Amino acid sequence: MPVNPFDPQRPSPPESFAGRERIIRRTREFITAAGSARRGGALLLHGHRGSGKTSALRKIQALVRAETDAAILVELPLRTRSSESVLLRDAVEEIHRCCAEPGRGGSRRRAALKKISEVNLGVAGVGVRLTGPRSGDAVNPLTLWRSCLSAIADRPILCLCIDDSELLDKTGLGTLKTIAEAPGGIPILLAVAGGPELMKRLSESDSSPVARVFSGAVFDLEEFTVEETAEALAAPLRAAGVPGAWSPAAAQRIWELSHGYPYLVKCLAYAAYREGVELQSADVEAAVSEALAVASSWLDREVPHASDADLVAFGRIARTGKTALRSVEILRLGIQSPYIARLVRLGVLKRTARGHYDLRKAPVIAYYHLLRRKLFPEA
Ligand SMILES: Nc1ncnc2c1ncn2[C@@H]1O[C@H](COP(=O)(O)OP(=O)(O)O)[C@@H](O)[C@H]1O
Ligand SMILES: [Mg+2]
Repeated sequence: MPVNPFDPQRPSPPESFAGRERIIRRTREFITAAGSARRGGALLLHGHRGSGKTSALRKIQALVRAETDAAILVELPLRTRSSESVLLRDAVEEIHRCCAEPGRGGSRRRAALKKISEVNLGVAGVGVRLTGPRSGDAVNPLTLWRSCLSAIADRPILCLCIDDSELLDKTGLGTLKTIAEAPGGIPILLAVAGGPELMKRLSESDSSPVARVFSGAVFDLEEFTVEETAEALAAPLRAAGVPGAWSPAAAQRIWELSHGYPYLVKCLAYAAYREGVELQSADVEAAVSEALAVASSWLDREVPHASDADLVAFGRIARTGKTALRSVEILRLGIQSPYIARLVRLGVLKRTARGHYDLRKAPVIAYYHLLRRKLFPEA
């Protein structure tokens, strides 16, 4: 059975990562600055689920790794609400693990490993402790973090990626600034990814010092352009070295049906792909129901009680690309007040203040259900 290179349930491997040129360019600038001036930098990536945040973090790590073997690459996917001490403890543990990996960095790596081993990681509960001479003494997580950084001070760069960062609590958010502004020593490239909720919290006034850390390097993982879609279709075939192709009309059709939403692009490609043939738009059309079946495990249970009219309204809002809208903007889309109220009850919109709403569900949910009910693209 030939493998299908379009697995939608996994982040894209860096070799077949498509588009997002601005993120790549900015990352390269940071890598250059780390090499020439030993200066760090911070990137913030945001988007709904399935927009490509984890894929982009993997790409950033691959770009750093391509520059130097001695880089320390750490990815922290948050799974529960995380405070400063949890974040720093996990970062130190992962740095430790990365330094212990065989085969990278040569003698410099071994030297760092020896030093970092001295930053002992007796972790008890949520507190971080140093063992050794003062065994049992609780150690401030910041102290642990600083000793960890000094242990790796002669490495060329630390790339620290924090995924699903909406799970950081207030102290965890503040830690982003601490990490990004570490004085001297190893240059840190901090890449933080999260959903709309993260952006909302960063925009609150008491978070502005944290938000400023990312100034000039905030990226919205928008829907793919038609060119990015074509690249996302071609690259996995190239990377896997398998024969086959997508006709321009097939790529165009996938873009229209998915609105360029990365997760849906992958579902459609996965369903339509056959090894060794040039896929046509008719192949895409014939694969829509299978693509929806692939997507259903995630998307089927969302908005279970929505009517067709609700979905059409949700789709119009989703297509604006905005996550916060005023009621006049919604009315201008041809959605009347009773429908706004229905979307609030469905959990699609949340009223945040008089006449202000947040879009709480990922646009892909609307696109999926519109396709399932055959309300698209005509709606
Ligand atoms: N730049 C990209 N190039 C190719 N595929 C991508 C890209 N971004 C996302 N994808 C695909 O979209 C889907 C969702 O990506 P993922 O990174 O898991 O999103 P998120 O972390 O935002 O939920 C995956 O199937 C992934 O392969
Ligand atoms: Mg992810």
